[in-house]
Formats: sequence, structure tokens, C-alpha cells
Amino acid sequence: MAGRLESKIAIVTGAGTGIGEAIAHKFAREGAKVVAAGLPDDPVDDVVRAIRERGGVAESFLGDLADEVDAQACVALAADAFGKIDILVNNAGVFPEIAECQDHSVEMFDYVVRNNIRSAFLMTKFALPHLRRSHGVVISTGSEAGEMGEPMAAPYGGSKGFLHAFMRSVAYEQGKYGVRALCVCPGPIDTAWTHKETGLMDAQMEKQTLAGTVLGRRGTPEEMANVFAFAASDEASFLTGTLIFADGGTTIAKGGPGEMAKSFVREQPKPTLDLKHSHDGLKGKPVENRMH
Ligand SMILES: NC(=O)c1ccc[n+]([C@@H]2O[C@H](COP(=O)([O-])OP(=O)(O)OC[C@H]3O[C@@H](n4cnc5c(N)ncnc54)[C@H](O)[C@@H]3O)[C@@H](O)[C@H]2O)c1
Repeated sequence: MAGRLESKIAIVTGAGTGIGEAIAHKFAREGAKVVAAGLPDDPVDDVVRAIRERGGVAESFLGDLADEVDAQACVALAADAFGKIDILVNNAGVFPEIAECQDHSVEMFDYVVRNNIRSAFLMTKFALPHLRRSHGVVISTGSEAGEMGEPMAAPYGGSKGFLHAFMRSVAYEQGKYGVRALCVCPGPIDTAWTHKETGLMDAQMEKQTLAGTVLGRRGTPEEMANVFAFAASDEASFLTGTLIFADGGTTIAKGGPGEMAKSFVREQPKPTLDLKHSHDGLKGKPVENRMH
């Protein structure tokens, strides 16, 4: 049976770890040829190797997508390798610091703007001529934080709010050329960011975060990848300018309903993708020039 992304060419940014690894695997399983992009010390080559071992088609791009030259080179690689681009997923992002607003450094703010906003702008700018030819789609990873705000990480919350409005603007403006644009907005996902052992949250924040979903648990990267696969497919042809909240009910939660969720509700679905870097991200791996 043909996959839902058969014959599509997709760029997935931040594809070495976390949600991006799952999107890359899922898209390949659905028949897309994938350019997996990430920073030079992200395990992107490993993800590409794993996709190829399962019979998929993938190429890696290593570079800083917030850099104009690198972003342009990433788009050029996809177009040269596969002849066209149908799908751009702006998923790369950072969550570098937990602090009250007055205590965030300006350097950290610039780092968030650069990696969460500038990278998505550059990739969208350079991919649009190709997406207009293919009548393609650009999907950015927003967040419930872009809607609800993110206390103790206000610059991060603001950066996701930017992406929501950015995608809606692009959707309106580019719709006449047959290009769709939207955001998938996750709640807390089972990646390195939401665990006290691998991310910035302490035990209290971790507990509050899970209680702040209706389902009382993290979503899995694979559950997010399922939503991206649908949104990128032709089945979603009337979906544009929208924000898909895939957040376990975070945006409707009041008063910590997750603590009332029965144990079977809190169980994550069994994985079907063979992911190696989604959960722990870069923990234990040598990385340079990161703020976390
Ligand atoms: N984990 C969550 O709970 C959660 C919730 C809502 C939204 N999100 C969003 O999902 C996306 C993925 O998050 P994740 O949890 O998988 O984190 P992650 O750290 O595992 O993945 C992000 C990836 O993006 C890469 N990246 C960052 N800046 C880059 C740049 N300039 N160029 C190339 N690559 C770059 C990182 O190296 C990393 O591999 C982010 O945009 C994040 O804001 C995550």
C-alpha cells in the first residue's frame, strides 16, 4: 500500500533528536524522501543511516540553519538531490534557560530568537520558491507555550507565538500560489526537555507540567510525528493557516487535571518507530556552543 507521503520530498529541521527524529522516521515510512537537517554535532547521520537501513531514502544536512548561507545550502541540497521540495518542517528549536524575565541574559534571548525564529524564517524564505512550484506545505513546530505563554521561559514562549503568527501570515500570503502553511503545537513531549535528568526542569516543574495536561502524561515524539505526517499529506489539503494543538489538553487544563487521570490514561501508546535520540537528546554526547 502506498504511504501517505509517497513521492514527496521533505526537509525536516532539528531531525537528529527528539520530535524531529520521529518526524524524519515517520515521513520516510510514509514514503517521503527526507533531508534530515541539524547542527554539526547532532546525530543526524545516525538518523539517516537508520532510515536507510529500513529501506527509506534520506540525506543529511549538517549546519546552522539560523545562518543564511547554511539555510540556503540546506534547501539547495534537497532540491539538487531530489529535484523538488514538497514539504518543509521547521522543527529546530532551543529551550536554554529557566528564569524570571528580569534575570534572563540578553545573550540567551538572542540565542532563542536566532534558533527558534531566525532559522524558521530563513528556511521558509529559501524553500518558498520550491514550494510554490510543487504546491507544497510548510509546517512549523509551535507550542502550547506560544498560546498560553511560558512562565519562567518567557522568551521561549514569545518565540513560539511568533511562529504561530508567522505561519498564519505565510498561509494567507502564499495560499494563492497553492502553498499551505500551519503549525503543529505540542504540549509536553517525552524528549530530553521535559525530564529533570536531561532538561532544565526540576522535580516540581516536571510534576506540574504533567498535571497540567488532561491526560496526565507526556505525548510521545511518535504521536507528534503522526500529526505532522497527516498535516503534510494531501489528505490535509484544506488545512492551512491553522494551529493544531497536539497537547494532551494542556490548553484547556485548569487546576492540574492530570493528577486525576486514571493509570491507563497515563500510559503512553506502544512505539512503532525505532527511535534512538528522541528521549535523551544530546545527553552524554559531546556538543559545542550550546547554551544548555
Ligand atoms: N519537548 C517538548 O515538550 C516540546 C513542546 C512544545 C514544542 N516543542 C518544540 O519541538 C521542537 C523540537 O523539540 P525537542 O523536544 O524535540 O528538542 P530537541 O532538542 O531534541 O530537538 C531540537 C533539535 O533542533 C536542533 N537545532 C536547534 N537549533 C538549530 C539550528 N540553528 N540549526 C539546526 N538545528 C538546530 C537541536 O540541535 C536539536 O537536535 C522545538 O521546536 C520545540 O520548541 C517541544
